[in-house]
Amino acid sequence: MAADAGQTPTAAPPSPSEPIAKMDAIVSLCARRGFIWQSSEIYGGINGFWDYGPLGVELKNNLKALWWQRVVRERDDVEGLDSSIIAHPRTWAASGHVEHFSDPLVDCRACKKRVRADQLDDAGPCPARKGTSEHDWTPARNFNLMLSTQIGAQQDAASQAFLRAETCQSIFLDMKRVRESARQKIPFGIAQIGKAFRNEINPRNFTFRSREFEQAELEFFVHPSEREKWFEHWLAQRLAFHRELGFRDERLRVRPHRPEELAHYARAASDVEFLFPFGWQEIEGIHDRGDWDLRRHSEYSGKDLSITDEETRERYTPMVIETSVGVDRTCLALLCSAYAEEKAAEAEPRTVLRLPARLAPVQVAVLPLAKKLAEPALRLAAGLRRHFAVFYDEAGNIGRRYRRQDEIGTPFCVTVDFESEGDAKVTVRERDSMAQQRIADDAVAAYLRERLEGGG
Ligand code: GAP
Repeated sequence: MAADAGQTPTAAPPSPSEPIAKMDAIVSLCARRGFIWQSSEIYGGINGFWDYGPLGVELKNNLKALWWQRVVRERDDVEGLDSSIIAHPRTWAASGHVEHFSDPLVDCRACKKRVRADQLDDAGPCPARKGTSEHDWTPARNFNLMLSTQIGAQQDAASQAFLRAETCQSIFLDMKRVRESARQKIPFGIAQIGKAFRNEINPRNFTFRSREFEQAELEFFVHPSEREKWFEHWLAQRLAFHRELGFRDERLRVRPHRPEELAHYARAASDVEFLFPFGWQEIEGIHDRGDWDLRRHSEYSGKDLSITDEETRERYTPMVIETSVGVDRTCLALLCSAYAEEKAAEAEPRTVLRLPARLAPVQVAVLPLAKKLAEPALRLAAGLRRHFAVFYDEAGNIGRRYRRQDEIGTPFCVTVDFESEGDAKVTVRERDSMAQQRIADDAVAAYLRERLEGGG
């Protein structure tokens, strides 16, 4: 199980219709505006770990809620789960992670740099050798990527446990319990969102490759005769989801795995890839895992995980079709896809995040034109807060306040001005077109709901 095989860019970035923003600009906006920054920053940071600030946590929660809505709530054949992060250690022997979940690692004997053997080009010159800038690499050896911990007061081999390297294993352990309690029949699925941990050798590209990250996974259990049909079904569903996030065709593609790339358990697999500023990279994997996991857990636990078809009495181990998306990678793709620097002829240049309206951290900003108008504006904001994520801002020039909202992706700004008291109307400004419309103040909530819930 080579972790993250196929993550080196597979093609030079093509030229999409809009220029691709530079990573530096996105990373800087994320820190400055409170989306994402390095964890433990005041201690100099910790490599591969990230904190989501006030806007980042809203964006991430909105993304997870949309996934849960589409994958769990809108379907009769999928159930949700929230399992513990630490499972019985035998889980990881059965799954093959103890034996196979490793990357090839090399060290430079001169400068002590440690990199993945398939990423030597990224190492840069060796600073420690005289007369040459080439590294003096050791032969490659396997490095297991699971993070381990100790449970209980005893510190020995028997107390060793692992932080899960993928969220799906507990779904297999709980499959029978969920199926029986929810009275599901094959085909059906179990979905879970949660943290996963991998001791990546070279975390890089901002949050793209982290040591702690979130996955949203679905394991869908099917009869062996239907595995191809369900693989195609879920691939199509997941592509539709990524399009709903606003990922345009020129930045989204499916890459079927070559036979030699397949994980040891997989019969077929396709990556959904996004064109990041650093090239095409995987954001989601769709895998036909066959009966590997259920068979292995049956074997290791001694509990039979096969099922009997109530009508035909056929006894079989279900096949598993998996969809596994990285929440952090998708957040990063959202930021990259939404980020634009605009220089319109007669307008001031602006940075804008064109996030889908339902995912935006702030949906509506309420802005009184002057501090004197705070009272009616606060009243309006309080009413809107019952329905939307609202931000109130009365400080500074109105043009600058609009720009600040554009930069964090707020789809609508509502301005209360000096005429508002007389005509009971406010101005609604739309982020992307910057068009402004006067709307009766008691009709604003309905107007915004239609646009925000319509998917805008
Ligand atoms: N259960 C299958 C599984 O875990 P994977 O391809 O190893 O498959 C699935 O991981 C997804 O998890 C990836 O497509 C990616 O989005 C995310 N992911 C994997 N490793 C990651 C890392 N180090 N940092 C951030 N996201 C990661």
